[in-house]
Amino acid sequence: MARRYLVTAALPYSNNRLHVGHIAGAYLPADTYVRYLRACGHDVRFICGSDDNGVAIEISALQESSTPEQIARRYHDRQAADFAALGIAFDVYGGTHHPDFVALHEQFSQDFFKRIYDKGCFTKRRTKQLYDPQAARFLPDRFVRGTCHHCGFDRATGDQCEACGQMIEPLLLKNPISVITGQPTEVRETTHWYLRLSDFERPLQAWLESKQGHWRSHVLNFALGQIKQGLPERSMTRDITWGIPVPLDDPDARGKVLYVWFDAPIGYMSFTAAWCAAHEGDWRSYEKWWSDPDTAIVHFIGEDNTVFHALTWPAMLMAEGRHQLPAAVVANNFLNQKIGGELQKISKSTSSPDAPVWIEEYAKKGLDPDALRYYLTSQAPESARTAFDPEDFVTRNNSELVAALGNFVNRSLTFAARYFDGKVPDTAAQTAADRAHVAQAAHTLQKVGACLDEHRFRAGLEELMAYARLCNEYFSLRAPWSSRKDNLPDCAAAIATCIHAIHMLAIMTWPFMPGAACRLLRMLGVPDSPIRWQEVPPLPAGHRLGEPVILFAKLEPGALG
Ligand code: 2FM
Ligand code: ZN
Repeated sequence: MARRYLVTAALPYSNNRLHVGHIAGAYLPADTYVRYLRACGHDVRFICGSDDNGVAIEISALQESSTPEQIARRYHDRQAADFAALGIAFDVYGGTHHPDFVALHEQFSQDFFKRIYDKGCFTKRRTKQLYDPQAARFLPDRFVRGTCHHCGFDRATGDQCEACGQMIEPLLLKNPISVITGQPTEVRETTHWYLRLSDFERPLQAWLESKQGHWRSHVLNFALGQIKQGLPERSMTRDITWGIPVPLDDPDARGKVLYVWFDAPIGYMSFTAAWCAAHEGDWRSYEKWWSDPDTAIVHFIGEDNTVFHALTWPAMLMAEGRHQLPAAVVANNFLNQKIGGELQKISKSTSSPDAPVWIEEYAKKGLDPDALRYYLTSQAPESARTAFDPEDFVTRNNSELVAALGNFVNRSLTFAARYFDGKVPDTAAQTAADRAHVAQAAHTLQKVGACLDEHRFRAGLEELMAYARLCNEYFSLRAPWSSRKDNLPDCAAAIATCIHAIHMLAIMTWPFMPGAACRLLRMLGVPDSPIRWQEVPPLPAGHRLGEPVILFAKLEPGALG
């Protein structure tokens, strides 16, 4: 049954370019899912944008002798171009401080804060905070580094530990150092507003337990484990100037902004409203997506965002009370990168020898976006960390995309072009085996669809490729090059069956590799839009096919440089 889906992908901080790890984490699975849902006839909006506020952007501005506005704008534009280069197509790509979005975003974030405030869910507290006397400023979040008080990782930042994923209590960090001056920190007093997450432990637990068997177990185990340990209160305000001003008529709130993790998820909502304003003339119709239970909200994130999307954000939604909770939070683990036979965490520094594969550079080389989409889905870190191996990328492109899928398509369609005048041949002589092969295509479509419904993208792609390999075997077994000489009707039936299989493969390929799907449909002489996730009738005998082209290019070793 058709329904509405609001799909979001984590808002990337607008202070860096995107690499393969980002894409594999949240954006590619989300785009694949959206394409699939649309092909099924659902009404879908795909929301993303840049996370422009907060400490990370301010630090980059300091490091690059720039302003947060300039940093956010520059990387917003570059990231939007990276997504487009890979065919990741959002309905709206907003930005929490982008000139086109900031007014509505500020309004949403401040209203949200005030409603939670009015409901009495915040505790105003005079607290101690780390302070840099040399820079004369407080050091929230990433402005401070030290040793994690949970796991001992020695480069944890004041917001979250990269190694164990847990939230950091900055005053418990061991050996804290200011990121601005590199000096040891002092402790000073300030005032903040804390969301009492512990008030939401029971409803969060009940809600998460209702997702058992539906959500990925690593998401549920992590979130339920945190509840078991007890959820701490979390400050939702910060002593920095870059961000959304705290909307309270209280002298203690002066000069403070909302915590970036408070306003960022509200970005999903304010960008939906911006889409509604631009396309429906009224931002208020965002409620159809956020308050109507006929809409399923699905968040795609990387593993480090789990704590915020499975606990803090749902607690905020519960506290605010006017919007619905996500139907699913789909988190991928990290993608590591293989360098010189060694698995390494993807580093963000361009100059380091273990620099990741940047999307900008991939695109500049003119490589097929679908080759990368294929590899990243086939290696998707859905239940454990996996690795990006540049050599394996080339091998798999050549041995799977080129040698299995591409080869089957090429041998079938060039045969039809050469011996059947580029037209679909007659199926009158179809055998039981031919009919079974056609049925197998429909069955594969169903199986791939079931995988995608369950967010098992990797398994879905494997089903598709298994069918492509079967098609190659079928072609070899039916040996049309031989039947052409002594049994033309049999040869015609075999080629018509292959053409039908290609048509079905094109549909299944669409969510994963949209460019290749369009090439396939054009080669079949079939319109490439709209694509419907359903069994198609065989093209009639005599239908004129398009020009066969190479579906995937073979890559040389070292193609990624
Ligand atoms: O980890 C990150 O890159 C964050 N900027 C993700 C934010 S997701 C959402 F809540 F906006
Ligand atoms: Zn840790």
